Amino acid sequence: MTPSSGRRRAAVIGTGAIVVGGHLPALRAHADRVELVAAVDVDPGRLDAFRAEAGEEVVGFASTEAMLDAVRPDLVLIGTPPSLHREQIVAALKAGAWVLCEKPLCLSLAEYDEIAAAETASGAYASVIFQHRYGSGAVRARELIRSGELGAPLVAHCQTTWHRDAGYYSVPWRGRWDTEGGGPTMGHGIHQYDLLLHLLGEWEEVQAMAARLVHDTESEDVSTALVRFAGGALATVVNSVLSPDEVSRVRVDCAAATVEVTHLYGHRNADWVYTPAPHVARERVAAWREAGVDVPSSHTAQLGYVLDAWDAGVRPPGSGREARDTLEFAAALYKAAFTGRAVRAGEIGPGDSFYEVMHGGFGETWSGRGVGRA
Ligand SMILES: NC(=O)c1ccc[n+]([C@@H]2O[C@H](COP(=O)([O-])OP(=O)(O)OC[C@H]3O[C@@H](n4cnc5c(N)ncnc54)[C@H](O)[C@@H]3O)[C@@H](O)[C@H]2O)c1
Repeated sequence: MTPSSGRRRAAVIGTGAIVVGGHLPALRAHADRVELVAAVDVDPGRLDAFRAEAGEEVVGFASTEAMLDAVRPDLVLIGTPPSLHREQIVAALKAGAWVLCEKPLCLSLAEYDEIAAAETASGAYASVIFQHRYGSGAVRARELIRSGELGAPLVAHCQTTWHRDAGYYSVPWRGRWDTEGGGPTMGHGIHQYDLLLHLLGEWEEVQAMAARLVHDTESEDVSTALVRFAGGALATVVNSVLSPDEVSRVRVDCAAATVEVTHLYGHRNADWVYTPAPHVARERVAAWREAGVDVPSSHTAQLGYVLDAWDAGVRPPGSGREARDTLEFAAALYKAAFTGRAVRAGEIGPGDSFYEVMHGGFGETWSGRGVGRA
C-alpha cells in the first residue's frame, strides 16, 4: 500500500465504552493526521450519543458493510464485542482499509490465520490494541532489556489482579467462550502478559491452572501460569478478576537490575522503577531512569505508532507475528490448564482443538474447579 499525503479518513465500528474513552481521544489527539468520518453501531441510541459527542459531521451507519461501501475509509478502528472482530477485520481489510482492533484481536488461532490470509490478499494490515507497549516507560524498559544493558533476564512476575462484580458479568457477551473467548486470561490479563512477552521475547513452555471460583460465567475467573522463556528466564503469570486490592504489575529481575512497573489501567514514566544489583555503578542507573518525554500508555500513543508506520509504508506494530504470538500464549495457557500438561510454543496448529477454540472442547463440561473435570 502506497502512503499518500493528507489526512487519513477513519471510521469506528462500535461506539461503546472503549471507543468513547480510548479511540475518540486518540483520534482527537492525532487530528492533524487522521479525520473521523464515519461510525457504525447496531444500537441507534449509542450511535446518536456518539455522534453528538464526536461531531454530527461523522456519518452514522447501522452496518459495517454499508459503511465500507459508502465511505471506503483508510483506517478502521474496531471496538465491538470480541466475537465480531474477525468478520469485521476481514471485511475492512477486503475493502483495503488498515485496521486497529481492540483486544482480543479474535477468538482463536484459527481466526487469526484467516485474518493473516486477508492481510496477504489485501496488502493492508490489522493491528491489535495493546496500549501498554507504547508508553515511553515500556519503550525504554524494552530497549534496556533487549540491548542487554540490564543483564540477562532471570525471573519475572506478571500480575493482573483486578476485581469485577456480578453487574459487570451481566453484560451478555462477557464471560462466555463463544462471545468473549474466555475469562480474564483473554479479556484482562492479556494486557500484562502481552507486555511481558514484548519485554522478554520468545517463550518456550507454559504450565497453567484455571478455575471459576466466584462468577456465574462459562469461562474462568482466575488463571495462573508458569512460563519458561527461550532465553532461560522463568516467569509467573496471574490473571484474576477476584482481587479486591487491584493492581497491574510486571516485574523482571535481570542480572544487573530489577525493573518493575506498577499501575492499574495505564502507566507513565514514574510508574517504572529500576533497582540495581549491588555491583552496578550509579551513573549507569541514572541513565536507565531517563525515559525522555513522558508518554502515558494509551490508545493515543499506539495510534501514533500506527500512523507513523503508514507514513513509512511499513507493517504497523501490533500486527502479524506480534499479534499472533500473544494469542498463541493465551491458547497455550488454556491448553495447559485444561489438559494438565506443559505446552510448548508452536505445538498448537490446525488439527489441535485448542487451535479452533480457547477451551479446546473442554469448556462445556468443566466444573470450573479443576483440570478438565466435569
Ligand atoms: N484496550 C482496553 O483497555 C480495553 C478496555 C475495555 C474494553 N476493551 C475491548 O473493547 C471491546 C468493546 O468493549 P466495550 O467495553 O467498549 O463494550 P461495549 O459493550 O461498551 O461496546 C460495544 C459496542 O459495540 C456495538 N455493537 C455490537 N454489535 C455490533 C455490530 N454488529 N456492529 C457494530 N457495532 C456493534 C454495541 O452496540 C456497543 O455500542 C472488547 O473487545 C473489549 O475487550 C479494551
